[in-house]
Amino acid sequence: MYDHIIALETSSHPIPIIPIAENEFAAWLSDQPAHSKAWIAANGYDAKRGTHLVVPGEDGGFGAVLVGYRDDAKALWDFAGLPAALSSGTYAFEDRFADNGALYEKAALGVYLGGYRFDRYRTEDGKKDKRAKIALQGSDATKRAENIARGIGLARDLINIPANDMGPAELEAAAKTLGGEFGATVSTIVGDDLLKQNFPAIYTVGHGSDRAPRLVDLHWGDESAPKITLVGKGVCFDTGGYDLKPSSNMLLMKKDMGGSAQVLGLARMIMAANLPVRLRVLIPAVENMVSGRAFRPSDILQTRKGITVEVGNTDAEGRLVLSDALTEAASEDPDMLLDFATLTGAARVALGLGLPALFSNDDDLANGLMENGLALHDPLWRLPLWDEYRPMLESKAADMNNISGSPFGGAIIAALFLDRFAEGAKSWAHIDLMAWNPTDRPGRPTGGEAQGIRAAFKLIEDRFGK
Ligand code: BES
Ligand code: ZN
Ligand code: ZN
Repeated sequence: MYDHIIALETSSHPIPIIPIAENEFAAWLSDQPAHSKAWIAANGYDAKRGTHLVVPGEDGGFGAVLVGYRDDAKALWDFAGLPAALSSGTYAFEDRFADNGALYEKAALGVYLGGYRFDRYRTEDGKKDKRAKIALQGSDATKRAENIARGIGLARDLINIPANDMGPAELEAAAKTLGGEFGATVSTIVGDDLLKQNFPAIYTVGHGSDRAPRLVDLHWGDESAPKITLVGKGVCFDTGGYDLKPSSNMLLMKKDMGGSAQVLGLARMIMAANLPVRLRVLIPAVENMVSGRAFRPSDILQTRKGITVEVGNTDAEGRLVLSDALTEAASEDPDMLLDFATLTGAARVALGLGLPALFSNDDDLANGLMENGLALHDPLWRLPLWDEYRPMLESKAADMNNISGSPFGGAIIAALFLDRFAEGAKSWAHIDLMAWNPTDRPGRPTGGEAQGIRAAFKLIEDRFGK
């Protein structure tokens, strides 16, 4: 996944990468030899963040690569353009840069993410990795960056793999592969067994597909440690069901398992860091299809909690499958319960694609996630669980409807729906996210994306770490 990164110990005479703080450029320049000054001036280079310049050595050959950065929350992205920009060879940050562990970690994470590629479906020669290698120190900062990058890379890969190769069974297999790597146990409840074990909403939403629905349940860590439970929406493809999406809206719906990709990526970070927690990951994995067995608008479903739900819209399927998973999660009184879901278009209308919506019944949890998100540039923005809107989910025929009659406030309405099922969880947060980059930026290529899991990992580390 990250073949462009190598260990510094294995590389001899790498070409130096010289990071220059944007605001220290003038001072830095004044110490440079005349030929470098002339070259830098001729190129009009001023070390603006995220820009780089190759400078020749004294012999006229390849000397070093300058990279401008600003040491703030976004610093990691300043380094993320390097993997694509460097010509083949081996490079390493100059030694003095390694002294600042926190900044080195950001730079390392930037160059990891900047080299992420999704090329498993490319058969041409271009697939072979002829790129520059970046050598990183074997330090704690590098290990942390690598851990985070691998969690993010896992999430991106799972989202990018198309639905024909990432159905409920393959999503289960991915969780099992991950669990196997870290000694977790992964159990699943599949198909009719969902009914027998009282997960009727997951069963019903997934019943329209030939690929059987399931609940994936990963357990890791010491049972007596603080309990963290992660729930991720695993709708492997969302056609909308009988409330069929128009093709333009359906096109991207392989990413509707993006919530499950987040929680697996976050679980990977937690397990690889060996945090002293008891981790549980619950993924309702289904495909929302149209067929002779699919559920219908106006059907009334059972849920694990016993609340009956009238289906106002089959396209509001995520909240249905999450309801059973959240009921199960809340039943064991976890110390922290986080769910991630590509739940509503309304959250995207409110906040755009790059800013997931955060809902929580715990101000400390919400503030912690928001603060870490801003500090790490993995932002989340809180919206309210607005009490006054609860009646909008009333049904004439059942205990609840899965949608409101109004087109407004859809992200809040969906969160309020989930809130009924997360009831009892003392510290619950719901993250409604896009899980997709619409454009290419350094370190953030078009395609599946991790959102909010760096922020969540930091919070979990700070609260429950050693
Ligand atoms: N998976 C979609 C939500 C979605 C759409 C997220 C586009 C990100 C981008 C979800 O299942 C859905 O279709 N929700 C409906 C709910 C509506 C029927 C109340 C929506 O947002 O339109
Ligand atoms: Zn939907
Ligand atoms: Zn959906």
